[in-house]
Amino acid sequence: MNTANKDSIEEAYPDYRQHIEKVFEAGQSHIFNWWEELSASEKQHLLEQISSIDFTLLQKLFHEHLNSTPDTFQKNLQPPHIIGIPKNNEEKKIAEKARQMGEDALCRGEIAVLTVAGGQGTRLGIDGPKGMLPISPVNKKSIFQLHAEKIYALQIKYNTSVPWYIMTSETNDNDTKTFFHSNAFFGLDPQGICFFTQRMIPAVNRNGKLLMNTRSNIVMSPNGHGGTILALQEKNIITDMKKRRIKHIFYHQVDNVLIKMADPVFIGYHLVNSADMSSKVVKKRNPEEKVGVIVSLNGHLHVVEYTELSQEDRYAKNNDGSLKYDAGNIAIHIFSIAFLERLFQMETYLPYHIAIKKVPFIDMKGKLNTPEENNAIKFETFIFDILKHVKKGVIMEVARKDEFSPIKNTEGNDSPSTAQKDMVNMFGRWLQKAGITIPTDSDNNVIGQIEINPCFACDEDELIRKVGKDLEFKGFLNL
Ligand code: UTP
Repeated sequence: MNTANKDSIEEAYPDYRQHIEKVFEAGQSHIFNWWEELSASEKQHLLEQISSIDFTLLQKLFHEHLNSTPDTFQKNLQPPHIIGIPKNNEEKKIAEKARQMGEDALCRGEIAVLTVAGGQGTRLGIDGPKGMLPISPVNKKSIFQLHAEKIYALQIKYNTSVPWYIMTSETNDNDTKTFFHSNAFFGLDPQGICFFTQRMIPAVNRNGKLLMNTRSNIVMSPNGHGGTILALQEKNIITDMKKRRIKHIFYHQVDNVLIKMADPVFIGYHLVNSADMSSKVVKKRNPEEKVGVIVSLNGHLHVVEYTELSQEDRYAKNNDGSLKYDAGNIAIHIFSIAFLERLFQMETYLPYHIAIKKVPFIDMKGKLNTPEENNAIKFETFIFDILKHVKKGVIMEVARKDEFSPIKNTEGNDSPSTAQKDMVNMFGRWLQKAGITIPTDSDNNVIGQIEINPCFACDEDELIRKVGKDLEFKGFLNL
């Protein structure tokens, strides 16, 4: 290889020869096909990427993939213990006690929010981070702003601080930070917001070869939401949290617009059970809904993916006709810092899962191909795989319509339009509870538009306290 610009590269990368050797040893030398035509900065970029790649791990993952057979869990599955939605006064009293405990922890400033926003949002396909999507039904506030206002409301309500940690990835870190800066952090104290990035991992083709999408760029993707755990450790986030006296982390995904931010009832149940990790679930809609379910497997909590659940278990019923395995995982969790520190000490790593995707790449002539068939293997870790290490876990069921409406697709299910509809319907139900007449259609969808700022009311109880029964809804409300 020609090492033109050698001096500047050697300066920036004293050990660049080692990196190059690593690539040759791993049988990936094709990535240097265009080396001689690259500018110094392009070479530097490529070397930077190479230095971040664990080639041994990549080879191991690829071989595991070649030898893998699809898993189905046939044995030792049991439904987990679930704290249900309170139905009677007794259960409501218990939930109220939990709320009190959670509120006390919030007042003491022991809770941080962690939003994972490092994904590429490929299905939604918008330009820029998903959190920037203008979504609120009336004011078209971004998803990030909706989350920020909920955090702001919590801080005011409990006269406390709720630090906000946002995990991004190289693909969207700059854009995310710029968005927050240009929106003055949505009124939050910038000192209370911390961005950190997760690791990236290359995608490979079906022969295990690295893919390039320009002559100097290896296709890399974020290492899955499970990358949170490693990032919390290697970016010293836990140390930062401990400095702020945080004891528990409320975790959620950026794209759920109905998220009940740092829900005190959930926090309370986590605390009263001294849990390592707690998770919210919603009832699976039907046996074929493509959602992972939380089960008890050999005495541990575990998420079984839709594809891993045997046909028999998928359709298994309880005596009352309800699905036996119906605890749909919605990726809302609480982690105790003490548990995470224990995990770090054990040096446990989350397993990688594979996803076969369509990934544009350049061929040997340097021409960009946009494949119509899946051509690439991506590797991802999943946050719920840490359940395996949880000694004490809490599972709490919540109503989907009140707490879970993710934005994944451009249209149809889990899209911006369902998210807006779900928000309006939820606000409509709050208003109905407050005694206001809200017209609905035959599918129970509100006829009209409603938006309620969490600083005005963050739940129906607060709304009931604030609005008079004489409020008249004329098809539009912006509170
Ligand atoms: P998804 O798996 O739904 O991915 O992530 P996505 O990026 O939103 O969308 P697709 O699959 O590319 O269409 C669920 C949540 O986990 C975060 C996402 O940002 C989202 O909040 N995530 C996902 C990460 O933070 N990092 C990742 O590597 C993957």
